[in-house]
Amino acid sequence: MEAMPTSRHRFFLLVIQVNPVHLQKLRDQLEAIGFRSREWPSLLYRLFSFGQRISLRDARLLLADAFDSCVSLNLVQIEDESVIAKYRILIEDEYYLVLDPIDSNPDRLSVMPPSGSTKTLLRGMRQTPCETVVDLGTGCGLLALQASSFAKQVIAVDLNPRAIEFTHYSAVLNGRSNIETRLGSWFEVLGNQKFDQIVCNPPFVISPRSKIMYQDSGMRGDELCRTIVTTLPGYLNPGGIGQILVNWGVLPSGHEGIDDWLPQEKCEVLLQRFSTFEIEEYIQHWLGGTDDPTELQSWFDYYQELGFVRIGSGLVSLTKSM
Ligand SMILES: C[S@@+](CC[C@H](N)C(=O)[O-])C[C@H]1O[C@@H](n2cnc3c(N)ncnc32)[C@H](O)[C@@H]1O
Repeated sequence: MEAMPTSRHRFFLLVIQVNPVHLQKLRDQLEAIGFRSREWPSLLYRLFSFGQRISLRDARLLLADAFDSCVSLNLVQIEDESVIAKYRILIEDEYYLVLDPIDSNPDRLSVMPPSGSTKTLLRGMRQTPCETVVDLGTGCGLLALQASSFAKQVIAVDLNPRAIEFTHYSAVLNGRSNIETRLGSWFEVLGNQKFDQIVCNPPFVISPRSKIMYQDSGMRGDELCRTIVTTLPGYLNPGGIGQILVNWGVLPSGHEGIDDWLPQEKCEVLLQRFSTFEIEEYIQHWLGGTDDPTELQSWFDYYQELGFVRIGSGLVSLTKSM
């Protein structure tokens, strides 16, 4: 369970030591320049969304009072007469999110920006008022932020220390004091506690690769998704719900691995199917173009060894019996 930051990935700011008042002040300053309006000047989009360098003069002018805060909070860096953003700042679903710069070559400790799967779970998650929600594998913390608007307490778990820092930073920036972050692996950091709701968008990709923490589980086949589905109900209160995005293998007989994933506790199970991919399609989607024939072959060999001829994807909802 190694999770040390690489030199490429500086630790953020040790945000725990940053005075929350400074972050809240930054939010007020960003609001004052209309950052949320989506009409902020294209130069600010360039700076914060695309990582482009802009002149020091423009940055001072456009960011107004937020300029000094961005510098002192380490969000931008001044180089000669220009400014470059060290982190992206986006508005996603009403929330300020601080993210890594766009990265075409993510590595083990890159933090996943909100993706199609994040949005799927964001839209699909139950959003009724409750006491406690866990976001397992929180990444940039968007699901935790959303949960913090209908739950009294949210626990955001991740094994990636950078994800924990980003989530903490964004929680404070959005003024959400009901999000607690916990660094560690899946259920290990939940102790004996039980919760009203658990959402999980795990690294569900089934592949021989073990490179990116947010994508590759490092476990064989669909073993991670199976483990989460079968274990999760043990951490729910009666009537509580778990919602997990999953991928699973389909055998030549047509048997679907997910049919064998029996939760260890009594609960109602609902599977919302999204797609069933042919192996070629799946490889194309996750590996993309590669000029390394050995790597491509290793993916085909992997599915053959597992006996998977197709891969299914969907959302599992588990409601614990009363
Ligand atoms: C697909 S990303 C989802 C991130 C975020 N929840 C979202 O929907 O955008 C999976 C997340 O699981 C985290 N993760 C991977 N292995 C983990 C583990 N053993 N325990 C906890 N989190 C883990 C990754 O670091 C990553 O943030």
